[in-house]
Parts: sequence; structure tokens; C-alpha cells
Amino acid sequence: MKLFKKITFQSAFYNHLNLKFFRIYRWTPIDQKQSRFSVHPIHVKNCGPMILDALIKIKDEQDSSLAFRRSCREGICGSCSMNINGVNTLACLQPIKTNTDIITIYPLPHMYIIKDLIPDLSNFYAQYKYIKPWLINKSFSQVEYLQSEKDRSELNGIYECILCACCSASCPSYWWNHDKYLGPAILLQAYRWLLDSRDTNTKNRLKLLKGKSKLFKCHTIMNCSRTCPKSLNPGKAIASIKHSMNCR
Ligand code: SF4
Ligand code: F3S
Ligand code: FES
Repeated sequence: MKLFKKITFQSAFYNHLNLKFFRIYRWTPIDQKQSRFSVHPIHVKNCGPMILDALIKIKDEQDSSLAFRRSCREGICGSCSMNINGVNTLACLQPIKTNTDIITIYPLPHMYIIKDLIPDLSNFYAQYKYIKPWLINKSFSQVEYLQSEKDRSELNGIYECILCACCSASCPSYWWNHDKYLGPAILLQAYRWLLDSRDTNTKNRLKLLKGKSKLFKCHTIMNCSRTCPKSLNPGKAIASIKHSMNCR
């Protein structure tokens, strides 16, 4: 904590030196001690431009025990989602050059933690499986299922979801009811299959979302759409599912 205060005081000086300090949440199930922060100075000029570059540098040069997920490093795989300076986002899309010299990183909020910045996504993936995220077409055609350009364009702004879970981890309804409520990411995926002109399972898909909790625990808070690093709008998708549910 002393070190943290000192850093704040000398901010202008460190800025001049192109130094940024990474304050990172740490917890490991092995020693079962309380969580803590580790602080790591990074010389911006000797590092790649993104937060993920800094994390990799810290792991390579300062503390090999630091744990975080990453794969594609270009906003495609959804692995590096975390909370950076209070915002759920992707570390590989977030530039280091912010106005602040101290960059605080937590794992995604309100998730069980496996280690450091790695959340346990078992429940999230079980919910994904629940909505049957694959094409169901009763004709069992052995050839391609063709789609007009117009029908295909209906999926724009939805199919781009990379299941990073930033939106679900920003939703207060999901924080308190993650065992019952499906959350914005999974509902956006459900909407993707409801909209697909090649899928003939619409009635059953809507049945899966029926009841008080799975869909209707969304109270239109809209944190989900504000935080999505791919600029998608899961809040709007949920509203559309509610609308089609009420119209039946
Ligand atoms: Fe991530 Fe956005 Fe998909 Fe949510 S909607 S899982 S924030 S890409
Ligand atoms: Fe949550 Fe988004 Fe609904 S933040 S309450 S899922 S609009
Ligand atoms: Fe794949 Fe960041 S590493 S989205």
C-alpha cells in the first residue's frame, strides 16, 4: 500500500520516464491465503502497445507464476477478458497508453476464480450448451442449407460474438442469479439461432427460455451493451426475444 501511495505521488516523474505500473489481482488456491495485489513497473517503450503485451512481458521477465488466459491476441478468441481499470474488456484490444500511470487489473467480476486473472467459466459454458448452439433443421438434408443474402444479413451484429463473457460479468442480474439466469452473452447466442432462417427449431428454442428466470431476470440495465468489446448489443437482442415471446 505504501508503494502504491508513493507511485501516485511521483506520477508526473514516472510519466516522463515512460513507466506504467501494473497493479494485478493475485490469488492462488494452493496456499489459500487472502487475495493480494502485485505491482509491476513496465517501460512502455520496451513493450508492445496492448495490455496483453505488458502481461506477457511481466510473466516472461518479472513473475512467471502470474496466470491469465490468452490465445489469438487480436480480439477473436475471447480468452483474455478481464477487468481493466474498472471496465470488463479484452486485454489484447486495450492499449497501454491510458491517462493513468497505474493500471489496475482484476479478473472478470463475480466469477469464481481458478487462479489470478483466470475465472471459472464452467457454469457459463454449461449455459451455452443448454441453448443448443448448433443448427437444427428437421429436413435432415445431406446437402448445404442455402440462405439468401438478406436472411444472412439478419445475423450481422450477432454472429460476431466471441463468447468472452465481458457482458455477462457486467450484469448485476447475472451476478446475483448466475445459477438461474442465462445472462446476456448466452441470450445473444440464443437469439442468433432464433434468427437463423435455416433453423426450424424456433418453437423449442423459445420453450428453453420460458419461465421467470432464464430470460426475464434481465431488467434492461444495459451494462452488457456498454461493455461489449466487439460493440455488440446483447441488451437489444434480449429485448427482441422478450418481444417474440410475448407475441406468441
Ligand atoms: Fe463478449 Fe460481446 Fe459476446 Fe458478450 S456479446 S460475450 S461481451 S463479444
Ligand atoms: Fe443485464 Fe444487460 Fe439485461 S446488463 S439486466 S442483461 S440489459
Ligand atoms: Fe484472443 Fe484476446 S487473446 S481475444
